[in-house]
Amino acid sequence: MKLVKLIANLGYGSRKDVAWMFREGRITDAAGEVLYADDKVDPAQIHVDGEPLDPPPGLVLMMHKPLGVTCSRKDPGRVVYDLLPPRYRIREPALSTVGRLDRDTSGLLLFTDDGALLHRIISPKAEVTKVYEATLAQDLRGDETALFASGTLLLESETTPLAPAALEVLGPRHARLTVTEGRYHQVRRMFAATGNHVETLERVAVGALTLGELQPGAWRALDAEDVARLFAAAPARER
Ligand code: URA
Repeated sequence: MKLVKLIANLGYGSRKDVAWMFREGRITDAAGEVLYADDKVDPAQIHVDGEPLDPPPGLVLMMHKPLGVTCSRKDPGRVVYDLLPPRYRIREPALSTVGRLDRDTSGLLLFTDDGALLHRIISPKAEVTKVYEATLAQDLRGDETALFASGTLLLESETTPLAPAALEVLGPRHARLTVTEGRYHQVRRMFAATGNHVETLERVAVGALTLGELQPGAWRALDAEDVARLFAAAPARER
């Protein structure tokens, strides 16, 4: 792909804007040598205004989604894309969230521009585990672990029972739930089905990938090892 198109698709501006950026000498190699629009160069060597070019398509990010932001491109309130560089909202191919977390759920949120990877992660057949920690309004009854593991729990207004899910009780009103599906408001509705109410909800892992040191609102690009972790078993809880 021509450099102008590549850079424009990464959201740096229209092709006309990017052609001007070349003329202005703002696009260089890693050593600061000015590049020309028809140069043949590895994108990893390109700098724009002295900063490395954003990663080319095939991008996978994880964000520690804070509370109060919505997984949407357009919403009157704050959205997860507001936490990324503005260019990331207009990249081609588009950078999408991998599933969604509710506005009032925090934790590990993935983004990718790789449609096949996105499908592999969210497909129930892939059984990628999503691990949530919930605090509850009322004490657990005691039968939730068996009910969630049974594979027979039918959520309100649904016709297919949920796949078995693993509940670990961490306290009278505190639990860790591992699910392989991503149905609408799934965790809140599972606890609602037991007469309880989720007060706080955080996604702490997807597969074996955890938030690590990532603080709320922060994000980082994933490498191939991180992506492989998504398809590995969920880690045991650090106590
Ligand atoms: N389940 C929910 O209820 N909410 C989320 O955000 C994620 C899973």
